[in-house]
Amino acid sequence: MRQKVTVVGAGNVGATAAQRLAEKELCDVVLVDIIEGVPQGKALDLTEAAPIEKHDAHLTGTNSYEASSGSDIIIITAGIARKPGMSRDDLISTNAGIVKSVTREVVALSPDAILIIVSNPLDAMCHVALEASGFPKNRVVGMAGVLDSARFRAFIAMELNVSVENTHAFVLGGHGDTMVPLPRYSTVAGIPITELLSEDRIAALVERTANGGAEIVSLLKTGSAYYAPASAAVEMAEAILKDKKKILPCAAYLQGEYGIDDLFIGVPVKLGADGIEQIIEINLTAQEEAALKKSAASVAELKKLLQTLG
Ligand code: APR
Repeated sequence: MRQKVTVVGAGNVGATAAQRLAEKELCDVVLVDIIEGVPQGKALDLTEAAPIEKHDAHLTGTNSYEASSGSDIIIITAGIARKPGMSRDDLISTNAGIVKSVTREVVALSPDAILIIVSNPLDAMCHVALEASGFPKNRVVGMAGVLDSARFRAFIAMELNVSVENTHAFVLGGHGDTMVPLPRYSTVAGIPITELLSEDRIAALVERTANGGAEIVSLLKTGSAYYAPASAAVEMAEAILKDKKKILPCAAYLQGEYGIDDLFIGVPVKLGADGIEQIIEINLTAQEEAALKKSAASVAELKKLLQTLG
């Protein structure tokens, strides 16, 4: 049977995710947006590319939700993106309302779906989606760590002039300035980068990773990154659709793991057909643990702000 993924938000991230899902022939794709004509136009354009790209995925663009019914996965990218000078947190009041209403719409027609949240500020939007959906915690997962780790991997590969395929990286914590890249667990062909690079160079790569989103915003000026965010969301969707049991850093709802309770934050998880099938607790040094706690505190602040927004 064909699997179905609905992407809500047919903007930069959503349309690029739809393209990658279709071109990898992972599923049929329903693209939903409030702007009339845009999801329809992009879905048709992608459909017309299919003979050349050689896939038979069906793409549907729509301004309503009927076609999303029975989706296996819903990727939520709806909302506003940041512009130069804005932090992800500045988006909170607008995007909280959008994510709440979109979540209610999609879960009514796809009660068994897994939600992949992309809208920012990511960790806070995961809370909105968890609450609005009433879903169990394993079926709400946030896209952040895969993107942040991919950025770190790209910078490691550039620095050492090696294939990106040889690199592995782990970035934990919230999707913001307090994220916690873990050099000890970041490797090239299995060798920790702490053996390959000086402390200064690692610190520079870590800083560039933490500012990776802002670096793109300052170059684009009219919006934020979308190629890598879309790739990251699609890697997560693929792991779920194919029940790969892939270990990926994702925003997950913690209830005591890592000493953190009642909070979404980036940690390594096992992604498979049931969504988050396991939260993996790795050993952290005192310094890494302190950085994770600091990051959790800033997510907790945003969560508190959500409550005041109602
Ligand atoms: N329902 C459906 N779509 C909506 C809604 C809604 N209620 N509100 C906004 N949208 C749509 C917009 O019409 C727009 O097409 O969401 C889309 C967002 O697209 P872009 O503005 O291109 O933003 P994008 O770069 O895709 O980022 C989307 O992902 O990475 C995060 O921070 C980013 O929060 C932002 C989100």
